[in-house]
Amino acid sequence: MSAMEARYPAVAGHCRRVSLYSVRLATQYGLAAEMVEAIRVGGLLHDLGKLEVPVRLLEKPGRLTEREWARLRRHPEAGLALVDRLGFGAQVGEIVLYHHERFDGSGYPDNLAGEGIPWPVRIVSVMDAYDALTSPRAYRAALSREAARSLLAREAGSRYCPWVVSGLLSLPRPLLQAVAAAPGATCQPDGCPSPAAFMQATKAWNRRAVLADHGHLSATA
Ligand SMILES: [Fe+2]
Repeated sequence: MSAMEARYPAVAGHCRRVSLYSVRLATQYGLAAEMVEAIRVGGLLHDLGKLEVPVRLLEKPGRLTEREWARLRRHPEAGLALVDRLGFGAQVGEIVLYHHERFDGSGYPDNLAGEGIPWPVRIVSVMDAYDALTSPRAYRAALSREAARSLLAREAGSRYCPWVVSGLLSLPRPLLQAVAAAPGATCQPDGCPSPAAFMQATKAWNRRAVLADHGHLSATA
């Protein structure tokens, strides 16, 4: 992540947000702690292979040529080679390798489809798409969060896993927004919140959302 931060800070920021949103969603699903941790790390490292993509290609404002596109499409495999060498587990490897697979089988590198794509991968790839849509690109402006939500809703069941998209749509809106770390929050050396800080932030948001929904109860109690 430090290497990514130095070379492609925008990609590093994207990876942090994808990790954050994915953990928030995984927490709502009540997934096992080890799976949530794999999702956190896999989200952070999913685009690690972009370190091997030249800057002129990654930041090219116009259309990519066939050859450039083929090169860019190799970043999941390059990423897997890196996380394998660094000793991350199989679940993290799957997230890195398969984050561009699509529910309808139209993705790459292996054209996996539907439930053949593991849960953690589906969660990270939906959040990857959400963050990409809501971030500006060299060739287009950022979509609003509402526009991104409705675009994903339209493609639920085709490009994106319908259950993960419905999970995303049911998340309280503030959870789909990166927030600055609370004062005193523990950060890891790379500046990324620790798993405990992720969990704490998510719990605090949940509590606030529940209070907002049921505020009238306490007012009449
Ligand atoms: Fe990617």
